[in-house]
Amino acid sequence: MSHKRVAILISGGGSNMVSLVDSMTGDHPARACLVLSNDPNAGGLKKAAERGIPTAAVDHRPFKGDRAAFEAELLKPLEAAQPDIVCLAGFMRVLTGDFVSRFQGRMLNIHPSLLPKYRGLNTHARAIDAGDAEHGCSVHEVTAALDDGPILGQARANIEPGDTSEALAARVLVWEHRLYPAVLRRYASGDRTPVLLP
Ligand code: GAR
Repeated sequence: MSHKRVAILISGGGSNMVSLVDSMTGDHPARACLVLSNDPNAGGLKKAAERGIPTAAVDHRPFKGDRAAFEAELLKPLEAAQPDIVCLAGFMRVLTGDFVSRFQGRMLNIHPSLLPKYRGLNTHARAIDAGDAEHGCSVHEVTAALDDGPILGQARANIEPGDTSEALAARVLVWEHRLYPAVLRRYASGDRTPVLLP
């Protein structure tokens, strides 16, 4: 059996990336082919290298907001890795429609909210401030619009009285680490039925 090739894009610690890489063993239909970061100092790069996954970094800062030029550089290692699926996992750069369209139908993202609620940043604080009873995370197919696109899975977590955004973020992250591997496994086998947890 030939495995689907999965490239994972990160910006930071890469805990979701680790959960994806560690899930791709045995009869899993996919394997990681590249971990790519916009930050050469991202902690996740070392974790990927320790797991024997090829890594690359393209620092976005010298491009000073020229997204097209940054993405042209990002595409080089990404295309060279010949991914079948691209997973954004804590990748904190907004991608242009041009970039996204190259990977249409094969790029996934994890976002820390129950989409369509709370696109963008500071999702945990916004859910608490709104008085929501529950929060969670979503995996969706990436389209040109930010944090949009068909939902492939969601996991829910209750918001407790007195919750801080940090405590809530930590609880949601535990669910992220369960949800993303479950969605990727299903997606890589050609099944787009949403995964709903718990
Ligand atoms: C995760 O909570 C992920 O959902 C979030 O960043 C964190 C990355 O953590 N992503 C976004 O906010 C995307 N807009 P990690 O590097 O440990 O996986």
